[in-house]
Amino acid sequence: MPGHPYGIARQQQLSLRQNRIFSRVEKHREVIICFRLRLPAGFSNGHEGTILLQAAPFHGSNMACHARSDRLVLALVMRKGVQKIYKEVAATYETVNHILTLGLDIIWRKKAVREVALKENQKWLDVCCGTGEMTRNLDERAPASTCVVSVDFSPAMLSVARQKQFKKKILFVQADVGTLPFPDDSFDLLTISFSTRNLNLTPREMQRHLVEFSRILKPEGCFLNLETSQPASLILRKGFHFYIRSLVPFIGRLISGSKAGYKYLAFTVPRFYRPEDFTKMLLRNGFRNVRHRRLFGGIAAIHLAVKPGSDPDHSIKY
Ligand SMILES: C[S@@+](CC[C@H](N)C(=O)[O-])C[C@H]1O[C@@H](n2cnc3c(N)ncnc32)[C@H](O)[C@@H]1O
Repeated sequence: MPGHPYGIARQQQLSLRQNRIFSRVEKHREVIICFRLRLPAGFSNGHEGTILLQAAPFHGSNMACHARSDRLVLALVMRKGVQKIYKEVAATYETVNHILTLGLDIIWRKKAVREVALKENQKWLDVCCGTGEMTRNLDERAPASTCVVSVDFSPAMLSVARQKQFKKKILFVQADVGTLPFPDDSFDLLTISFSTRNLNLTPREMQRHLVEFSRILKPEGCFLNLETSQPASLILRKGFHFYIRSLVPFIGRLISGSKAGYKYLAFTVPRFYRPEDFTKMLLRNGFRNVRHRRLFGGIAAIHLAVKPGSDPDHSIKY
């Protein structure tokens, strides 16, 4: 079928590479793909691991790289699956986190927030705020004239956050961070903690979110990302992945009662970027002055980046 946008050669190449694809039907400019999947618990659509996708925007060469089946499917089932998971874990989310990290997550959030430059009359946004732990750190650090807004798409997580006491009045907004309900150039600072993994279901999805973050940041605005990462040392990395894949789902399920939640964590953590790769991704997506700091040998990392238009002496402290 020469000249067809998805030509037969491409189809064969795809089938060979992705032997979990068992049928693929082309219809006008839409492609319907069936995958056999190894999805983490909680993501099955009830058809024994088989899911039918209708993926219109995949063209020619895009196709092969986007048909990394587990990631693509996760991207498409993500919204409902992730919301369901956070509903299950909301009540015990903080306790489990503190136990699993031996309290390091508390220290890491504090460390991350200490990197933020303080100026009067700013607008700060905490995206994927969850139960508001990062928001609380921002609230404590922000000058009285700074306004703090927090966004999450999970009503259950937001409800825990809203019950907390804050120094300032925090505006909590329920929204998907892929389409933030704010005009361009609105915020001086955007923070995200332990959530970027949720947005990284394909590199393209990750980039789409970074572009959205950049859109709502003011020129010279600062992006602060705190996330698990990949330790540079092979031994530490293997040990970390072993812990995440074997003990975390067990302990997480024991305390929260959610099997899916901590399987999902175990699925996403080992797949996230090394600090230097995430730095490159930020640079490729238009951020400047990108710096990262490894925490605990690279188990986690803090990234700071500035939206262009910035003064080179922007007060990021390292
Ligand atoms: C692991 S929790 C992190 C919460 C908090 N930032 C912290 O440091 O503990 C991830 C949060 O991201 C939210 N989330 C994931 N994807 C989202 C999306 N596309 N839009 C809005 N919130 C999202 C989830 O609802 C959840 O509350």
